[in-house]
Amino acid sequence: MALLKILFFALGAAAGTTNYRKCAIDTDVAIIGGGGSGAYAAVRLREDFGKKIVVVEKENRLGGHTQAWYDPVTGEAFDYGVEAFTNITASTEFFARFNVAVRAPDFSQSQTLYADFENGKTVNYTPPSSEEATAAMGRYREQWHKYGGLMLPTSSGFPAGDDIPEDLLLTWDEFARKFDLEAASPMIWNTVGVDLKAALMIDVWKAYYPTLTGFQPASGDNSEIFQKAAQLLGNDVLYESEVVWAKRSNGGVRLRAKSKDGNTTEINAKRLLVSIGPETLKPGVFDLDDEELAVFSSTTGSRYYTGIVSHPSLPAQQVANVVPEAMAANYLAYPTVPFLAGFKYKGNSSTGPVYRSLVVAPSDMNPEDAKSIVRSSLQNLMDTGTVPAGDANQLDFKAFADHGIMYRRWSVDQLRGGIASRANALQGLRSTWYTGAYWMNNNAAMLWNTTDAILPTMLETI
Ligand SMILES: Cc1cc2nc3c(=O)[nH]c(=O)nc-3n(C[C@H](O)[C@H](O)[C@H](O)COP(=O)(O)OP(=O)(O)OC[C@H]3O[C@@H](n4cnc5c(N)ncnc54)[C@H](O)[C@@H]3O)c2cc1C
Ligand SMILES: *[C@@H]1O[C@H](CO)[C@@H](O)[C@H](O)[C@H]1NC(C)=O
Ligand SMILES: *[C@@H]1O[C@H](CO)[C@@H](O)[C@H](O)[C@H]1NC(C)=O
Ligand SMILES: *[C@@H]1O[C@H](CO)[C@@H](O)[C@H](O)[C@H]1NC(C)=O
Ligand SMILES: *[C@@H]1O[C@H](CO)[C@@H](O)[C@H](O)[C@H]1NC(C)=O
Repeated sequence: MALLKILFFALGAAAGTTNYRKCAIDTDVAIIGGGGSGAYAAVRLREDFGKKIVVVEKENRLGGHTQAWYDPVTGEAFDYGVEAFTNITASTEFFARFNVAVRAPDFSQSQTLYADFENGKTVNYTPPSSEEATAAMGRYREQWHKYGGLMLPTSSGFPAGDDIPEDLLLTWDEFARKFDLEAASPMIWNTVGVDLKAALMIDVWKAYYPTLTGFQPASGDNSEIFQKAAQLLGNDVLYESEVVWAKRSNGGVRLRAKSKDGNTTEINAKRLLVSIGPETLKPGVFDLDDEELAVFSSTTGSRYYTGIVSHPSLPAQQVANVVPEAMAANYLAYPTVPFLAGFKYKGNSSTGPVYRSLVVAPSDMNPEDAKSIVRSSLQNLMDTGTVPAGDANQLDFKAFADHGIMYRRWSVDQLRGGIASRANALQGLRSTWYTGAYWMNNNAAMLWNTTDAILPTMLETI
């Protein structure tokens, strides 16, 4: 009893000194996640559809995978998440709305050093000529557009069983050989880092949009658009917050959001829009039913880590990880997960050259193990003399982020068994709607287009 009293006293004292806030709000749509698709949905719902919204965002910023390291001396942005936006109507309109000027992507062209990061040795690799690559990409584009009708904007009519086009279920290797697309593979792999050894054609379809033009903001800081969105949305975003309790019903949704520093917001919403990976929804908090649990846990995929690193031994150029099997124009040979894709030279910061490091890891790998892969790759390069000798423990991680599971995959059997329509059938149940990468692909602009299609349907009866 005495102990309990002390505990109560202590809690009371904490409450007295902590500056936390408790409030309740009524809104039309509560959005979980303010990343690529959540921030976009929030802006469109409030500004174009005239709805009241609230965004619950775990981090202290909007933008999700769009991330930059800012040079502390010059302020220059070095993007290590999203690198460019596909040029489609949804993306040009979103940038125009915020008056963010755009330019063609500026991917610093530097020479590339090819090496096998498993042993550090250089590999005598020649990438396809740009003529070969362009021609192969043209053939990929032709194939890609065959499936637009099935996949866009939400793949809600995606078939099952034998109605799925056979070619879409081939492995990427089989598909690339069948349509003479091998020379397009290095471009796809370098751009989106999808695991081409594990991917079916449908996975590559979702990962790589064969765009003719993309763009970046003229500032070179891909986060600019999300900073502008954050200014506009103001207090309609609850930062550093997560939902800790939820009750979902056909009549609407009640949520309790709690911030890191203890602020609680009781939310009464007509609709819930989940933009985060649904496999990360806590089953207890959201009272997920068996079908929701089964669908959300049905995918496999790799976990992606990216960061900005520097080390005195790294030359001011790209260092790419290629396997020896890739020699002699074998464009379908890639490293096996887990691996570091390369040290992608991003230019010179105030402290010297910096590199984007992308680690493709098993879904359960933790950040420390992912960093170890970056260090051991560099150590191998130094030990074999591919780059000057040194100590990889001096690798400076200026930034390093967990991007979660990307390029979620379903097996051929799951697809034939109708998993895509089971997923889509969850839209709207108990006032809950979904957007985000799980539901389409890993392309920010394409997801905006997908979100554009979901919003009016979600709003139909409110
Ligand atoms: C390294 C990398 C590079 C990429 N490069 C490009 C590119 O060049 N061009 C391109 O078009 N696409 C690119 N993509 C893909 C693109 O970023 C994604 O398709 C897009 O960001 C997906 O948007 P999303 O809303 O699904 O997820 P995210 O952008 O990841 O947003 C999810 C948001 O939810 C928040 N969140 C997570 N959990 C919770 C929780 N429990 N509660 C509250 N909030 C939560 C996160 O903090 C985040 O803000 C890249 C992705 C990565 C990882
Ligand atoms: C919590 O509320 C306090 C008081 O209003 C505020 O200063 C603080 O920024 C809030 N925290 C978050 C994460 O919003
Ligand atoms: C955007 O979605 C529409 C359907 O809403 C679709 O017809 C169109 O092809 C999509 N655009 C792109 C570039 O994917
Ligand atoms: C985007 O595409 C349109 C044509 O569809 C073109 O006019 C515009 O210049 C492109 N923008 C960039 C930055 O490439
Ligand atoms: C970066 O610095 C190196 C020397 O460390 C120099 O050779 C190189 O030209 C610089 N690159 C850029 C893009 O400024």
